[in-house]
Amino acid sequence: MAFGFNIKSKNKVLARIESDKVTKMRLKYNPYYHTFEKHRGSHVWLDGEEMVMLASNDYLGLGEHPKVLEAGRAALDQWGASTTGARLANGSRAFHTELEEELADFLGKEACHVHSAGYLSCVSSIQSFAERGDMIFVDKNVHSSLWSGIHLSGANYEKFLHNDPDSLRKEISYESDKSAKFVVVEGVYSMEGHVCRLPEIVDVCQEENCFLILDDAHGLGVVGDVGQGTPRHFGCEEEVDVVCGSFSKALSSVGGYVAGSKVVMDYMRTHSKQTIFSAALGPSSAACALASLRILKTEPEHHQRLERNRKKYLSILQNLNLNTWDSETPAIPIVIGDKDRAYRFWKALREQGVFAVLSVAPAVPPKKDLVRTSISARHTDEDLEKIADAMAYAVKKAL
Ligand SMILES: Cc1ncc(COP(=O)(O)O)c(C=O)c1O
Repeated sequence: MAFGFNIKSKNKVLARIESDKVTKMRLKYNPYYHTFEKHRGSHVWLDGEEMVMLASNDYLGLGEHPKVLEAGRAALDQWGASTTGARLANGSRAFHTELEEELADFLGKEACHVHSAGYLSCVSSIQSFAERGDMIFVDKNVHSSLWSGIHLSGANYEKFLHNDPDSLRKEISYESDKSAKFVVVEGVYSMEGHVCRLPEIVDVCQEENCFLILDDAHGLGVVGDVGQGTPRHFGCEEEVDVVCGSFSKALSSVGGYVAGSKVVMDYMRTHSKQTIFSAALGPSSAACALASLRILKTEPEHHQRLERNRKKYLSILQNLNLNTWDSETPAIPIVIGDKDRAYRFWKALREQGVFAVLSVAPAVPPKKDLVRTSISARHTDEDLEKIADAMAYAVKKAL
């Protein structure tokens, strides 16, 4: 019988796992995977202590909106807990197509398909369309889900400088005209809070006949007059071939979407492994996402409050001379530029009852080690005061 102490020498995979330095560091400093005992609005409770949550992407604070809760409960009663199968084989349900039609319309697209995670949608938006021999030009700072889609597709890829259409143009100019070309960007970059320079990216794509894929996980509900997202904000809905994103941010649910023209989406349903081989989005998640979507259209006050809170929060950080990487959105990084100091800053915030996310290289570019924060419509003025005090304390203690 094998026991723990000799597994390491015999099994190479177990040996790798047991000696992994990154895991050892994570367990030593313990910045991730905390278990909160309770969560209400913009507050969480950790080891009995009430904290202001500054890490979630609940931009509009709709997670406890009565209409969202009611829709989720009613869907459970009507449809049960799960569809327990993929839609290709087990069929769609009316709540899928209802959500897809309303979302497509909201995004200015003909058709839409929803998945049980934004990650699946983003992988699918690339893997379904790109194939071996194709060329993908990708902003070097895009989300891990898009990289997964690129690697799964087997296509060649070239990175261009972050949010730099000139760099994109230069990279494309080195490429032969023969291969099918893709460009992959985010609408709002999740770590940096930058809004994509979409009109210039669109110009390059039009000139070079590139298929443009945009992940708007952090743009939906945030950018655009009532949160229709980055393409609508710039009036470029037509020119973006595929928009993908998540329900786990401003829509306060879980799941994701891919939207495009009807012909593009029919093709995706034929070729997307994430669609064909994964169980459908569940009833209550779909219902909560749809209820949030309807709230975006009918209750602009959440969007307005988000913008007010964003401005107030940004000025708190700017008054302390903190580097916010020129964020223009509610996703606001505090760039520290060094792992140890970033950790100390994160810990100091925690001591003061503010919970943020530590993000260090390689998750962020070298010398960009940061504490990622995101502000919500749900934060109160009292929360903002507590955040301001905690930031001042963290600056003194860690920088
Ligand atoms: C830019 C971006 N794309 C995709 C995803 C994946 O979305 P989900 O969390 O719904 O799987 C995320 C979530 O972290 C994200 O930030």
